[in-house]
Order: sequence, then structure tokens, then C-alpha cells
Amino acid sequence: KRVVLAYSGGLDTSVILKWLQINYRCEVVTFTADLGQGEELEPARAKALNAGVKPEHIFIDDVREEFVRDYVFPMMRANALYEGLYLLGTSIARPLIAKRQIEIAQQVGADAVAHGATGKGNDQVRFELSYYALQPDIKVIAPWREWDLTSRTRLIEWAEQHQIMVPKDKRGEAPFSTDANMLHTSSEGKVLEDPWEEVPDYVYSRTVNPEDAPDTPEYITVDFERGDGVALNDRKMSPATLLEALNELGRKHGIGRLDLVENRFVGMKSRGMYETPGGAIYHLAHRGIEQLTLDRGAAHLKDELMPRYAELIYNGFWFSPEREMLQAAIDHSQEKVTGTVRLKLYKGNVIVVGRKSPYSLYSEKVVTFEDDAGAYDQRDAAGFIKLNALRLRLLGRRDR
Ligand code: ARG
Ligand code: SIN
Repeated sequence: KRVVLAYSGGLDTSVILKWLQINYRCEVVTFTADLGQGEELEPARAKALNAGVKPEHIFIDDVREEFVRDYVFPMMRANALYEGLYLLGTSIARPLIAKRQIEIAQQVGADAVAHGATGKGNDQVRFELSYYALQPDIKVIAPWREWDLTSRTRLIEWAEQHQIMVPKDKRGEAPFSTDANMLHTSSEGKVLEDPWEEVPDYVYSRTVNPEDAPDTPEYITVDFERGDGVALNDRKMSPATLLEALNELGRKHGIGRLDLVENRFVGMKSRGMYETPGGAIYHLAHRGIEQLTLDRGAAHLKDELMPRYAELIYNGFWFSPEREMLQAAIDHSQEKVTGTVRLKLYKGNVIVVGRKSPYSLYSEKVVTFEDDAGAYDQRDAAGFIKLNALRLRLLGRRDR
């Protein structure tokens, strides 16, 4: 009996590791994903070894490029936002972690997988829908739904009884719960639970306060090819390198902070704070290049589909036929989404100030208020309006 655990090396998943060994008497295989969370990951190896995990059963993988190329960028092609604001930083990472867990399970011959998400949240749903989609007969263990360590205090007591190192700052109540990867850092719970109270400064970890950001704006350019970012300030970059570079710019200018009350899939409302510095810049840059290159019909249909697509990702249906159908439509729309966007970054703001593209549909000749030399016949508009008005006039005659 073997189980592959999504293991961060933190307190919670360390307790889960030990708990699985004791309660399921199974061999635990750990998987730690480097998603660019900006944390040292080698300590996770030492901790796993210490807990008796075999060296060949400790997996620490750098999945940063895969994360940005195959998950973040496809999602950004849709301009996905959940409930109008959330850039889905946690939601989009879960399917990748789950996919790697299943691959490892197949490689080491494990029949089960486990994760450290609670029974009250979205993450459990995202992990498990992905597991089941990729391996229908997998056994799933979710310790938070099973054990009786229902408070922080009891978890810490249990850890100490079982010789698990409890970091000093984890003693007493943790101030809030966070999840981090290259796209975002989220914070929920504890000091954030009253939605009337402003998020305290110390909760922010990867952006400066916009009030303290530089007083002079910074101009940048982002190049897109077929809907994906490929260069910053004329320098070609891989997807992960580009997002990292945008993160640095976003940090400095206090960009991408969001305080949100959202609807979890399981039914409750929760209040969270998100920092998505590079993602916020990228999102608006992508919209900037679409402004020039997408036809109105395609653009508007895409915007109608977007909330559905975002909800699928939020609810954990990345590996579903309906998400793939929408992705195919979105990807098709990106064929000519190529060009350069110029942006101004200033005290928490991202302002698109210029765009150009070899595939631009924008015609200065047609739109100009000056003489257009016959590019557009203003007399055509009279009939256009008359026919569009026909039904309104019939209605007006009847009802007014
Ligand atoms: N509410 C956000 C979401 O559902 C963030 C979840 C954060 N997860 C965590 N384990 N702290 O996507
Ligand atoms: C959790 O419950 O583990 C975190 C919050 C969420 O998944 O929504």
C-alpha cells in the first residue's frame, strides 16, 4: 500500500505524512512542486527523509515553466476572472499538482493520493476532480475530513507528541492561511474574517503599498505572439521568465492587490486577499493587444464565454470536456493576437498607453474625423439606422 502525498514540508502536511503512516500503515511517497512559491524546497527533502520516506520516494519537481506555459497562459488567453475580479492564482495550480501526483502514483505503483486541503474549501474539490478525471479508480485520502485534529492547538499538540518540528511562529494561532505560487499569493482566515475590517499591512507579502511606490511612472512593452506573451522590453523570454519579470515590476509599483468576498463552490462566502503582481499586468496587456487584433464578433463572444470558463477553473473542472471545448474556441481566436503593448505602471495602476500589431484591424483611414477620402460613406449610416429603428418605431406607434 502506497500513497502519494502533495507535500509542502510545512507543518500541516508534515502532520499528514506522519498521520498517514500511523493510521493507514502505508508507505508515503511525497511530491513537492516548485511552482515558484519563493520558498526553499530542499528542507522538504530532509524532513521527508527524517519521517522515514525512502529517498527514491521523495519527488521535488520544478514545474514552473509547465505551470505558466500550459496553465497560466491558456487561462490568460481567455482573460479569465472569477466573479469579475479574481485572477484564479490558486485555482489554476491545483490541476497541475494533481496531474503530477497521478503520474508519480503510476510510476511508483501507488494506489492512493492524499492532499492537505480542508473539507470546507475549493481546493479539495479541485484536487479530487482532477485525480478522478485522470485516474478513475484512484483512492483519495483527505485527512482534514477524517481526523479529529479540529483545532490548531490540537494539531500542534499532536505534532509535538510525534516529534514533528513546530516552527516558533506556528505556535499559538496562525494569523491567517496562505497559498503561494508564481502567479499569486492568497491569504484567508483569522484577521481577514471580518469583511468590514481593512486588510492589515503585514498580510501583504509581495507588493509594496501603492502609496509607497515610486513617484515616477515606469513604461514597459510586452510582445505577444498568438495570444501569448513572448518578450518584455524587446527581450525574448520564456513564459516563466516573463511572468517572473512582470512580478518584479508589479511588486515595485504596488500592482495586483485585491480584497475580495467570493462565493466558494461548496456554498459559503469567504473573504480573501490576493496579490497577483505580474498576472495583473499581463491580464491588461493581453486585453490591450486583443483590442487591435480581435474582430468585434469574436471578441464579444469570447467575453460572454469567459465567466463560464473562469467558473469551470474555479470549481475544479480543468480536466473536463467543457473546459477543453471552450479552450479550443478561445485558442482559435488567438491566431492573430500578435503585436506589442505599451504600458505605464504607476502606484498600483496598470495603464495601457499604446498598442501596435501587424494584424491590426484598426483603420485610422476609416475612423478619422478628418476627410477619409471615400473610405466610408456617411450616407450609408442613414439606412442602417432606419432599419434598426423600424421595430422601435412600430412599438412606439403601438404603445406611446
Ligand atoms: N479562495 C481562493 C480560491 O479558492 C484561494 C484558496 C487558497 N487556498 C489555500 N489553501 N490557502 O482559489
Ligand atoms: C482549504 O480549505 O484548504 C483552503 C481554502 C479553499 O480551498 O477554498
